[in-house]
Amino acid sequence: MESRIRILAIESSCDETAAAVLENGRALHSNVVATQIDLHAQYGGVFPEVASRQHIRTIYGVVDQALKQAHMTMQDIDVVAVTQGPGLAGSLVVGLNMAKALALARNIPIVGVNHLEGHIYSAWVYDADRYMDGSKAPDPPAFPLVALLVSGGHTELVLIEDHLQYQLLGKTQDDAAGEAFDKVARLLGLAYPGGPSIQHAAEGGNPTAFTFPRARLEGAWDFSFSGIKTAVLRTVKKIEENHQELPVADLAASFQAAVVDTLLTKTLAAARKYNARQILVAGGVSANRALRAAFTGQAEFQVHIPQFSLCTDNAGMIGAAGYYRFIAGHTSSLDMDARPVWPLSSL
Ligand code: KG4
Ligand code: ZN
Repeated sequence: MESRIRILAIESSCDETAAAVLENGRALHSNVVATQIDLHAQYGGVFPEVASRQHIRTIYGVVDQALKQAHMTMQDIDVVAVTQGPGLAGSLVVGLNMAKALALARNIPIVGVNHLEGHIYSAWVYDADRYMDGSKAPDPPAFPLVALLVSGGHTELVLIEDHLQYQLLGKTQDDAAGEAFDKVARLLGLAYPGGPSIQHAAEGGNPTAFTFPRARLEGAWDFSFSGIKTAVLRTVKKIEENHQELPVADLAASFQAAVVDTLLTKTLAAARKYNARQILVAGGVSANRALRAAFTGQAEFQVHIPQFSLCTDNAGMIGAAGYYRFIAGHTSSLDMDARPVWPLSSL
């Protein structure tokens, strides 16, 4: 009989408490996310102490729901995967403790997963329900891949030649892409988190109304977003000094276009240079519709972008990365610690 590995995965690195059940690294049976966005919106960003307290309140219910939605109990689970880092120490510890307790109680292996590796593996995941009738599951990404990882804390271009093999080509020299969205949203008076707010505002705007700089950083694979952010700030100040009304939609659309253009141009150049077969885009910012349209609209490379529910933080992606780690022989000990700083390049 074909071997079957069912993973219960837990994610609590930032402001979402999440649990998922995944089979053989790809088939998602449940994916529960309790977001804390409303709690943190009043602070305009994530408040670490509030986050860890909220994780403690919700984690038990979230895990319970993930098992119920998958029609399983802990008896059906073979491995526990959990985000070990990077992230907020106090938040990571909550997920780790829950995962350790479950693994210990059932005496099953536990795998500590890097959150960034999780974002990359989100591209392997599909909803099990949709393929219940025996129809063919989507093809997994094919190596070598160039991956663009764009989240609230990270913007990285990574060459992946095989499972679990990462070569960091470049990263942001200042703000992460998601951070730039969040900061520009604040400048424009839009709600937190900035990514979805800017996308929404941009829908009614003209992306060519303002020309914001596309930082190319010639010869390097690094990114920089502070120039675009400063250009938006200068434009906003000038308009306000003239007592004119802020054209929020045009500013949002023009900013978004500059970021998307920068990300697409550099990723395509890297994919050509390293003879990638495919491109993978992942992380919270990959939920952005303009970004998705730009990447899927080019004809040169096949692009994998996770479905919306797997772009922002979730546990399904942690289960996928945990599975590929597990079958490669990686397991963790019950006394593993949270790793608040843990670059992908160190894996
Ligand atoms: O991956 P993620 O959920 O958390 C981190 O690991 O950081 O990414 C969160 C980031 C935030 O900066 C948020 O503004 C951004 O992803 N984001 C978006 C969109 N949805 C979330 N940025 C642009 N457009 C979106 N639709
Ligand atoms: Zn994330």
